[in-house]
Amino acid sequence: MKKSLILVGTQWGDEGKGKIVDYFSSKFKAVCRFQGGHNAGHTIYQGKEKFVLHLIPSGIFYDHVKCFIGQGVILSLDSLLSEIDEIESKGINLEGKLRISRYCSLLLPIHAKIDQLREDHKNSIGTTRRGIGPAYEDKTARRSIKAFDLEDKDLLKKKVFDLVSYYNYQIETIFNSTTFDPGEVLKELIEKYKKASKYFGDVTDTLEDIYGDGDPILYEGAQGTLLDVDYGTYPYVTSSNTLATSVGIGSGFPKSIFSDVLGVAKAYTTRVGEGPFPTELFCDDGKKIADIGNEYGATTGRPRRCGWLDLEALKYSAKLNNLTSLCITKLDVLDDFNQIKVCIGYQVDGELSSFKSRLLHKSKPIYKTIDGWGCSLKDAKNFNELPIEAKAFIELIEEFTKIPVSLISNGPNREDLILR
Ligand code: GDP
Ligand code: IMO
Ligand code: MG
Repeated sequence: MKKSLILVGTQWGDEGKGKIVDYFSSKFKAVCRFQGGHNAGHTIYQGKEKFVLHLIPSGIFYDHVKCFIGQGVILSLDSLLSEIDEIESKGINLEGKLRISRYCSLLLPIHAKIDQLREDHKNSIGTTRRGIGPAYEDKTARRSIKAFDLEDKDLLKKKVFDLVSYYNYQIETIFNSTTFDPGEVLKELIEKYKKASKYFGDVTDTLEDIYGDGDPILYEGAQGTLLDVDYGTYPYVTSSNTLATSVGIGSGFPKSIFSDVLGVAKAYTTRVGEGPFPTELFCDDGKKIADIGNEYGATTGRPRRCGWLDLEALKYSAKLNNLTSLCITKLDVLDDFNQIKVCIGYQVDGELSSFKSRLLHKSKPIYKTIDGWGCSLKDAKNFNELPIEAKAFIELIEEFTKIPVSLISNGPNREDLILR
């Protein structure tokens, strides 16, 4: 049997995971999200039409694919319902095609409010302001409203009232802002869940059945390795474990851990929000990458910070995720550069350093400069058709990370992909 595949971002998110999951979905019958929430923005093109998916897996546009949201995902019913509406308006019926774990913790509007108040208050980390941090805090603090709580109205009322009073105290005393009416929160939650309840059920057993029938599963990571709450650039991270190794917990299907792992990396680096970024460019080259790469957040529209490819960071990600192969995206964005820089290490106060040093805010990148290819890669259909300089760029990545590059993306559309 073909192996299952976990696809993860290896940088600070927005590596092009959505496009690559969409490509692989033609070969899988099931696609599963296992962490994160609607902070994710995964862009795919269906012909000329653009979709940005936040919660629903990027395999949704294939008739033969069933989509799953595992319990590791923090679920906003508002975001879910509007995404369902948008997809169904394109004539795709999601009933029987989408299944969400009853164990998911729910993200409520009060979480987004707290996230926004905190961001505006002090020590902003540039979150997506969606409420992801507070919702994961509640999960760990055992305060979350779980989807299954909606099945016991008495318990639900107590949990919602407790949660709202917990946050109202902060909203009032710390932020001097408008509090929430617990009765309204409860009513809205019940109404929204009613609309979405048909999508909730068991995910573990269903994945097990699909796998047991001989069909491998595609797991879609969100965010990126360097945003992992444990191994990323803490505290400038998201609040979930983004690594491939979190797939077992997040999907609820333990055999998911025996999968191949494909890491997606841009041919350069971007980051949205605050936090250290050793190869960040503040010169015209950075602006040029941003313009050509159209580097604006798919979820928030914020401009992304841009810099050269950081192989020191990529090597760190490759190890942590136990990558079996790499996909390099947006190679075409570098078409017009005479020279391209690639970071192959760091120095701190004149001494060699590494990503693990956690002195990233003081790290100066050591660059290797290579010649650009100076032509459009748009029409290249296989590796041999790439200019020698582009091949050398890919081979440098392989040599440094010791991971084979099995896919190269040279444009935003499904067919802009070179298999190796
Ligand atoms: P994700 O969050 O990892 O799914 O990535 P995003 O969708 O947030 O951002 C990636 C952006 O790059 C999207 O606008 C994609 O359409 C676009 N994209 C993906 N692959 C390529 C590529 O190879 N070349 C170009 N030019 N754009 C790409
Ligand atoms: P995809 O799946 C890029 C970043 C935010 C912020 C930090 C914390 O599209 O790659 P959060 O709202 O999660 O508490 O914000 O994480 N961030 C992302 N950056 N792509 C994402 O998702 C991101 N999800 C969160 O910008 O710096
Ligand atoms: Mg994105």
